[in-house]
Amino acid sequence: MDKKISPSIMCVDFLNLKETINEFERLGIEYLHVDIMDGHFVGNYTLGTDFVKTLKSTTNIPIDIHLMVEKPENVLEWFAFGEGDYVSVHIESTCHLQKVLSAIKQRGGKAMVAINPGTPICLLESVLDDIDAVLVMTVNPGFAGQKLVKSTIKKIADLRKYLDESGYENVEIECDGNVSFENAVLMSEAGANIFVAGTSSVFAKDGTLSENISKLRRLI
Ligand code: DX5
Ligand code: ZN
Repeated sequence: MDKKISPSIMCVDFLNLKETINEFERLGIEYLHVDIMDGHFVGNYTLGTDFVKTLKSTTNIPIDIHLMVEKPENVLEWFAFGEGDYVSVHIESTCHLQKVLSAIKQRGGKAMVAINPGTPICLLESVLDDIDAVLVMTVNPGFAGQKLVKSTIKKIADLRKYLDESGYENVEIECDGNVSFENAVLMSEAGANIFVAGTSSVFAKDGTLSENISKLRRLI
């Protein structure tokens, strides 16, 4: 599967957002990862509905909305997304998982189910027909700058094997959290193909955006 980079926009220098997006366009970045947090599912707030609208009107790069919210089925319509955009909802955040995943697809989006480090992959069994990707959280969600939960590397490999053996070879695997240059190699070897890159790679301080993205592309 093609390897794709989805920079975590919550890590961006907001005072230079437009220049950063222009650079992403120039460098062929595949998605923009937009973390949405409600202060309940995770103990933080980040980006919001108006920001997503602005992003959609500013660039043609598809967005990758990560809903870290309770009951995402109640807020999905608040967000601007469409053809080619990913929307991920956490399996732990709703008792209407299949309903919200199909609602994403009914609006032309691509449906992604997110699982926390402590959530087993077997829980995905009944929604495999409803998803285009699985988001494997490689940190516990809520904040940038955290450290990798090591067991999630094997989890990515187990998931890739499970999907391939079940006939879901086209379902992508996104990894999100401490996607450092070192960890990205392990995540890629394990079978991830979409990399949510934040403070420990694309936005790392010891390189320019272009240098960091080229380095990450070489490694994955
Ligand atoms: C955490 C977010 C991640 C985070 C990644 O809940 O989902 O997208 O911003 O940032 P780093 O790369 O610093 O872990
Ligand atoms: Zn995220």
